[in-house]
Amino acid sequence: MVLVDAKVNYLKNPVGIDDDKLYFSWKIKSDNQNVMQKAYQLEIDGVYNSGKVESCESVFINFDAKDLKPQTRYTYSITVWDNYGESDKITSFFETGLKSYKNWKGTWIKKGFEGNNLASFRKEFILKKEIESARMYITALGIYKVMLNGEKVGDNFLAPGFNAVSEELLYQTYDVTSMLRDKNCVVVTLANGWTLGRIYHNQSGLTNPAFLSQIDITYKDGTKDFVSSDTSWTSYPSAWERADIYDGESYDASKENKDLYYYGNNSEDDVYAIKMIYPYMHIKSQTHEYIKKDKKVLPVELIKTPKGEDVIDFGQNLTGWVKFKVKGNKGDKVIYDHAEVLDKHGNFFIENMRSAKNLIEYTLSGEDCEEFEPSFSFQGFRYIRLLKFPGEINLNDFEAYLVHTDYEKTGYFECDNEYVNKLFQNVIWGQDDNFLDVPTDCPQRDERQGWTGDAQVFIKTAALNANVGAFFTKWLGQLAKEQRYDGLIHPVCPDVFLSENASSGWSDAICICPMEIYNAYGDTKILETLFTNMVKWVEYVRAQGDNEFLWNTGYHYGDWLSLDYLLDADSTDDKEAVKFGGTDKSLIATAFYANSAFIVSQSAKILGYTDKYIEYKNLYENIKKAYQKEFIKSDGTLISHTQTAYTLTIYFNLVDDLEPFGKNLKALIEKNGNKLSTGFLGAPYLTYALSKCGYTDLCYDLLLTEDFPSWIYPIKKGATTIWEHWDGIKENGDFWSEEMNSFNHYSYGSIVAWLYTNVAGIKYVEKGYKTFEISPQVNKKLNYVKSHYESMYGEISSSWNINGEKVDFKISVPCNTTCTFKYGDYKKAYQSGTYEITLDYIN
Ligand code: BGC
Repeated sequence: MVLVDAKVNYLKNPVGIDDDKLYFSWKIKSDNQNVMQKAYQLEIDGVYNSGKVESCESVFINFDAKDLKPQTRYTYSITVWDNYGESDKITSFFETGLKSYKNWKGTWIKKGFEGNNLASFRKEFILKKEIESARMYITALGIYKVMLNGEKVGDNFLAPGFNAVSEELLYQTYDVTSMLRDKNCVVVTLANGWTLGRIYHNQSGLTNPAFLSQIDITYKDGTKDFVSSDTSWTSYPSAWERADIYDGESYDASKENKDLYYYGNNSEDDVYAIKMIYPYMHIKSQTHEYIKKDKKVLPVELIKTPKGEDVIDFGQNLTGWVKFKVKGNKGDKVIYDHAEVLDKHGNFFIENMRSAKNLIEYTLSGEDCEEFEPSFSFQGFRYIRLLKFPGEINLNDFEAYLVHTDYEKTGYFECDNEYVNKLFQNVIWGQDDNFLDVPTDCPQRDERQGWTGDAQVFIKTAALNANVGAFFTKWLGQLAKEQRYDGLIHPVCPDVFLSENASSGWSDAICICPMEIYNAYGDTKILETLFTNMVKWVEYVRAQGDNEFLWNTGYHYGDWLSLDYLLDADSTDDKEAVKFGGTDKSLIATAFYANSAFIVSQSAKILGYTDKYIEYKNLYENIKKAYQKEFIKSDGTLISHTQTAYTLTIYFNLVDDLEPFGKNLKALIEKNGNKLSTGFLGAPYLTYALSKCGYTDLCYDLLLTEDFPSWIYPIKKGATTIWEHWDGIKENGDFWSEEMNSFNHYSYGSIVAWLYTNVAGIKYVEKGYKTFEISPQVNKKLNYVKSHYESMYGEISSSWNINGEKVDFKISVPCNTTCTFKYGDYKKAYQSGTYEITLDYIN
């Protein structure tokens, strides 16, 4: 037996962790079958020893870290004993950050000259003795890039990320020990980034990017030293002329004086930096994964479009940027913009980027070989259009990088239908493309916001594809911090619109997302931390209108972008009306209200808050009654005869007898030619609702439908990510619309959760798969399925293969978990190991 993957708050060996509570998790691997943990012991470097604890818990073991020293590396070890009498010990570490805002030694500084916000700041310093270690702590209003002695600090980008700056600003920690010399020079370059950029809609109230940093040095003899941001730093205009998340950037290499990155130089334009008054108290260490480069994508084709433009196709819609090499004369330019699609004539199409320019401009220095990639912006694209490029265009000089939050990938699905496989891959791309520090709606147009609706719709899929526990802990924490005094949850986080409205299905993310993170990872702390916010949200809804059990007032996005408005209307070109779908908004709102009340009751139960459990369980029951009274007609149909109305009613258990509602849902789909018509709020639950009513065969039909509207239709139209609209590109090649037409919106990708949980059958039951189920819904429309998921306990896998009238199943169960395998009448509990089971195929 061996222990692997020791983690603290989801992270391996985190450096700069300030949380008052630390949660330890580990995995057990063994060649034995049926391995369960009998006891564990957690020891932290002289400060804590749990002793041998008889327990099978191996995730989120809580330690009160309030009294830990700041800036200290703690080694910890975990020992585990299993039911075979074997034991193992794993040793790992974590390092605290500044722990308190009081430990910042420097001051906020901004540039000392007028004009362009893209300033560089410089400081030279000499080390007095031999060093043992050095850390750099830094945050910024805007985005920073740090160079230390000519080398970039950190392999991450776009820090400090997208924050709800008035509530919380994150700082990052870097181990810079090996980068320091006797004589040093540190250069920080700033850009507007999210906070001061167009994306923040001027709501941050700031005009100057600024930063706060310190390098803390420990010498070999134990003495300390530091270099912090203050007015002894100089500032000078950087070689960047322009940078904005939406608009791309402009860089003049001929203006870059590389000597300035090294000690002993100074710029002619040096002006001392100015101290800026800005708070420290809301600065917190970043404890989710940093933004990093993932895959490299090489161009597949250089296209001359009918308009005669030079376009490079990377073959994949992605988020990140292009890196290129170029040779030319000083002053020559490389200029290109980005697009997701070509129009039906094969021309470069950027209208759907709306006001986002996504324009990169590079002026050559004339050096032998020059290389550039953006530092202060990112683009969502498949194609670039070279508006200027000196010399011949050679595809070998271009490469694209996928850039996103560096979470661990955990899920895989494969079957014998190539379209379904492509759908799965497109969803993975869509997630990576949109999980860039916050979960965004899309990565390309002038939006890229943390829309709560999109995030809640997709979170189940997201948490299977990757470990997004730390990522959502950050985003949900900020969503909660931005909650209005009366409980209102804004529809985007960070709340860049300063909106005063909530929306059902969007704001409910405050309940849905923490519960999903708890279920996926066994993370009780997220429920504990956000419980009050969840309650406040439900109470906010309760206070709306004059019936406390209905939500029939206010503004709602409805079943966003569903197709059923068209079914009931004669025909309409009114895109505004179509957007909100055909399902009654009060029905949707009340359904989500019931679900949120239910989640609050369940959270209270998990947390042991008995009174609250009873209170919200009763509230849920009352909402359910009111729902039935208000929205079910005397003939038993719903007031909105739409797929989404039935789906929500079934999925959220709003009626006791599901059968007639299931029949209506099935009939509606059949009436629609066996096709879906759901929007953002119905689509994620449609197949779940059908499966629940026993109509799995119909789910397979929906999954495998190739023409519009379906999940496969966009693939047949060349999609490499998930589209915002079911018909972003119509049969005849026309666009749904020119300007509201993203080709990288993950919402409809939420079908992938159902592939894992129902087709492969991997379902959590308790505490992040401590107990789980494998109950595949096998159907001969596929011949085989293979799926695996790296849970907090280790790998779970499920595959099935149709073999005549038999089905061969293969499952694996990680140590310290219990799985119930179910197929038809067969039901058996399995503990760790790999098992093969052959059963009769059930039609
Ligand atoms: C976004 C959506 C979002 C919606 C609100 C759109 O502009 O792109 O994905 O949820 O607004 O309805």
